[in-house]
Amino acid sequence: MSGHIQALGGTEGSRAWFERARASLAGGISSSSRLTSTGPHPYPLYIESGAGTRIRDVDGNDYLDYLLSYGSAVLGHAPPDLTDALTRVLHSGTMFGTCNTPEVELAERIRDMVPCAELVRFANSGSEAVQGAVRAARGHTGLSTILKFEGHYHGWTDTLAVSNRPSAAEAGPYAAPHAVPHSPGIPSGVVDDVVVCPWNDPAALRAVLDAHRGRLAAVICEPIVANNACTMPAPGYLDLLRDECTARGIVLIFDEVCTGFRTGPGGAQTLFGVVPDIAVFSKALGGGLPIAAFAGLRQVMEPLAQGRVKHGGTYNASPLCATAALVTLGRLNRPETVEHIDATGRRIMESIRRAAHDRRVPCAVQGVGAMFQIVFTPDGVPTRQYRDLLHADQARYHAFRHALLERGVHTNAYGMACWFVAATVTEEELTATCEAVEAAFTVL
Ligand SMILES: Cc1ncc(COP(=O)(O)O)c(C=O)c1O
Repeated sequence: MSGHIQALGGTEGSRAWFERARASLAGGISSSSRLTSTGPHPYPLYIESGAGTRIRDVDGNDYLDYLLSYGSAVLGHAPPDLTDALTRVLHSGTMFGTCNTPEVELAERIRDMVPCAELVRFANSGSEAVQGAVRAARGHTGLSTILKFEGHYHGWTDTLAVSNRPSAAEAGPYAAPHAVPHSPGIPSGVVDDVVVCPWNDPAALRAVLDAHRGRLAAVICEPIVANNACTMPAPGYLDLLRDECTARGIVLIFDEVCTGFRTGPGGAQTLFGVVPDIAVFSKALGGGLPIAAFAGLRQVMEPLAQGRVKHGGTYNASPLCATAALVTLGRLNRPETVEHIDATGRRIMESIRRAAHDRRVPCAVQGVGAMFQIVFTPDGVPTRQYRDLLHADQARYHAFRHALLERGVHTNAYGMACWFVAATVTEEELTATCEAVEAAFTVL
């Protein structure tokens, strides 16, 4: 998979696979978020291989990948050191359902890297690890209600699949939003245990906290809201969350599934200098293998450590996935890896800003180098919270995304989500990406 990127050729193979898939896979997909399209064509791409920054679809089209399996393949696809380590594990048994040595080394490494990580537990997906963190917070406090922020995403399970993307009609009053179940099938009793608050608004936060005084087990947030087009925390806002939670005895949970180990070895909590009680990790942790973790201060994790609070999982921290995570964190702990990812992303962000400026297209390019998004807000002002995104021009985002795809650059199909940058992007690939961005703006 070397050589320059070709423009999107035919995608008939993907079309055929999707038609075939619909006969046996519900909706033709294995996850609701995969119901993407190739633009005018109403079917997703079928990717058959990847190496470094590049992926190839079943029709032989090559793309530079900034979806990056939703940020998981942070070392790029099929990185040789990871592949070698996994091959060794494959030959010696992938899992035994027992304690194993890589999980201990991995927990030690996470403790070394992450400020809040005094005790760690592993899981297989971000959703599961969020569930573990919420269970720990409820077990620690003896309370049930969780405050989440409108638009923040914490996985698909019932616990917090509330007000992920409510429409303007169902979202309710700005300062006291309705708790809107994300899907039919979520019991009302679960939704009743969730309180929703607008993000980045200190007065609204204090009002919601006051209204639910004495009932809240935890406040959970995405410190950089990857699922709201990388909306950044307003200066001081995470400190305010920390102070309010401390003063009120509420467990503060950072969902670092997207930010963890990617925005720096200590994740968002190091970037912003605010230490939560518990943090949740996945994606970059496993370098493309399914592993997740929740890690917290000893006091909050103690009921788990004592066995009073239960958490399980047959596949938790299998030697295969723990080994993948050890290799991945070994690399992400090196300053040059993180600096390369950050610098690459910043140059792409800059190229988008320049092209938008030259063409007089109002938009905001927000986030950090490792994860960012372009949002076509009417005035080009960065978003502060979920409801700002309801006014963004999603049709323009889709046109931009498709124009990039046609030029061999693969990004997230959802304007609400973001670009992720791999450690493998070469100078040549970066140039090709920036040229594709420039060209994509000519057709907007
Ligand atoms: C911030 C955040 N939390 C939790 C999750 C859920 O993770 P998973 O899809 O691995 O269950 C995601 C997934 O995208 C996420 O972005």
